[in-house]
Amino acid sequence: MTQSPPPVPPDWWRSIFDEVYLQTDARSILDEDLTRAEVDAVIQALDLGREEAILDLCGGQGRHALEMARRGYGRVLVLDFSQPLLAWGRSQALREGRAVAFVRGDARSLPFGGGNFQAVLCLANSFGYGATRGDDRQILQEAHRLLQPGGRLFLEVADPGYVRAELPLQSWHEAPGDLVVCRRRWLTPDHLVCREMVLSRQRGLVRDCTYQMRLYEPEDLKASLAEVGFARVSVSQGREPHSRPRERGALSRRLAVTAWK
Ligand SMILES: C[S@@+](CC[C@H](N)C(=O)[O-])C[C@H]1O[C@@H](n2cnc3c(N)ncnc32)[C@H](O)[C@@H]1O
Repeated sequence: MTQSPPPVPPDWWRSIFDEVYLQTDARSILDEDLTRAEVDAVIQALDLGREEAILDLCGGQGRHALEMARRGYGRVLVLDFSQPLLAWGRSQALREGRAVAFVRGDARSLPFGGGNFQAVLCLANSFGYGATRGDDRQILQEAHRLLQPGGRLFLEVADPGYVRAELPLQSWHEAPGDLVVCRRRWLTPDHLVCREMVLSRQRGLVRDCTYQMRLYEPEDLKASLAEVGFARVSVSQGREPHSRPRERGALSRRLAVTAWK
């Protein structure tokens, strides 16, 4: 087994979040109990009001936004880069008759004017994908720019302590359809690197890709947010929102940050 991680395309996140991802990560991202628990936590942490303008940044197929709409939150907008996930979310919103807006964009440079939102959410490990720290920083700058004065941010990332000490370096799990997802992981000083091979019993290999996420220590995260202008930054560690304690990859244990503009 090789010791050094394989190369990772710098913009890997542009192509990996598609229909296959909806299956490989279904155990988290299509788990309605988990989504409800995550939404409970955000509403409580930011004391979100139903009339507030809320941006679900890197919101994927809008599972949190849709759950919030079900609870009467009427001004939630999902921003994501992935066309397939946005299309999934739009269809679901249509089926349920929910007024959730889905917008395509790059979180490093958002297509909205400043001060448009009272809260920005970035949930379930959607941060730290940037090829450089500067890319990650641009996302935090944009979140800050979009908030009204007094607006707040809720950001979740993988807990680096868990990733370094407990996340298995090899794992596999069965996914919906006939898929088996095999992951091999490497730890570098800054990143968790993963090679993912997805096998279909009928079709053979359907995906072989590599990706990575930068691991942020709590102090590092606090400093990064303060640097772009956030105040009252607080980090809570050891959050395990899954109701069934089972290895769920980097999402198993998280850090959650709240910060104010
Ligand atoms: C792990 S998924 C999580 C999605 C969602 N927050 C959830 O909990 O289901 C990460 C998402 O971040 C999006 N993403 C990552 N980097 C992005 C960027 N620079 N601009 C827009 N979307 C981005 C991806 O397209 C993907 O949908």
